Amino acid sequence: MTLRNKKIILAITGSIAAYKAALIVRGLIKAGAEVQVIMTAAATDFISPLTLSTLSKRPVYSSARGEDDWNNHVELGLWADAMLIAPITANTLAKLANGHCEDMVGAVYLSARCPVWFAPAMDLDMWAHPATQANVAKLQSYGNHLIDVADGELASGLSGAGRLAEPEEIIAVLESHFGHETDLAGKKVLVTAGPTYEALDPVRFIGNHSSGTMGVEVAMAAARRGAEVELVLGPSRLKPVHPKLNVTHVISAREMYAVCTNRWPATDIAVMAAAVADYRPATVAEEKIKKKGGADESFSLELVRNPDIAATLGADKRKGQLLIGFAMETENGPANARRKLVDKNLDAIVLNSIREEGAGFGEGTNKVAIITADRERKYSVKPKTAVAKDILDVVVELQA
Ligand code: C5P
Repeated sequence: MTLRNKKIILAITGSIAAYKAALIVRGLIKAGAEVQVIMTAAATDFISPLTLSTLSKRPVYSSARGEDDWNNHVELGLWADAMLIAPITANTLAKLANGHCEDMVGAVYLSARCPVWFAPAMDLDMWAHPATQANVAKLQSYGNHLIDVADGELASGLSGAGRLAEPEEIIAVLESHFGHETDLAGKKVLVTAGPTYEALDPVRFIGNHSSGTMGVEVAMAAARRGAEVELVLGPSRLKPVHPKLNVTHVISAREMYAVCTNRWPATDIAVMAAAVADYRPATVAEEKIKKKGGADESFSLELVRNPDIAATLGADKRKGQLLIGFAMETENGPANARRKLVDKNLDAIVLNSIREEGAGFGEGTNKVAIITADRERKYSVKPKTAVAKDILDVVVELQA
């Protein structure tokens, strides 16, 4: 009952994903929350207010209905501990970004004093459009929290970014906000995330498929739990925003190394989730490298080792500092992870196997084991938001 007695406004707008709102209501109620559903007129075409009022055990307020609604939006805005807009359409994003309030959702949004989360759902091209992206950035600049879209099959038949985050993930975000509001308060947390790009010449690089999601989730969860978070992020499309989060963008392993070694002395907890390139080209050509011979020409590249950031921090670790690493293994996972735990002087290592279904790069979910000197904790496949919470729970336990 992690959301016991929390008052949550769930605003539903007119996307086909609105049917998932039933699962969100059920999940929130199961977690102990009181849920007040409000809907746009368009949303009522996709899911019946009767379904939602039955699940939430409260009348549903929608702009489609008459004056006898509880249309005192100010009162509703003051009542809530959180407002969740899920799904939010491109249209409602545009309206809220510009302060329009001709319907219930807009009016309550403007009146709400509580934190606001929004989970978009739309077709991939609508999501990718610069107008939509600008509206998302605007809402984030007002301090509202994005629950990012997932990648996958869309109702249009196309496939790509634009799916509503899974209801379980949406609920995990709220749980991590309310469940542990302050157990990392005052702590300085350093997180690395994303890939690194190692330049070959001005246009080419060696990189990897890391999306940065896992580390960004850890950084956001730590910020929500009260920590001051420094996120050192390799090239990634993610743009996390939180008042307690400072993001430094880097490209190469050596840049990431420089930022991390500089911050480490003032850090309490470091979580190294980046997929750092182990090697980089020995030289970076000043001009674009040209092919020379015919079709059978070969080209070999000399690579040199990059510094190991985690191992460097581990070698310099003071009493009281915690260092958490990740291991992505294709074979002998636990044994290799345990060796890295010792070699890099880590306090815990998060093992994920890319061979496991639902684990690894780019997926919204992950399946991990967290290994410490004395224990191996195994977890089921879950959204990365929920994995981030598990990792921080272990951190808090290790600090005790
Ligand atoms: O040795 P391996 O690359 O498997 O170790 C993975 C862990 O070490 C991750 O936590 C990763 O972020 C970190 N690492 C690092 N610097 C490197 C290589 C890995 O910080 N050059």
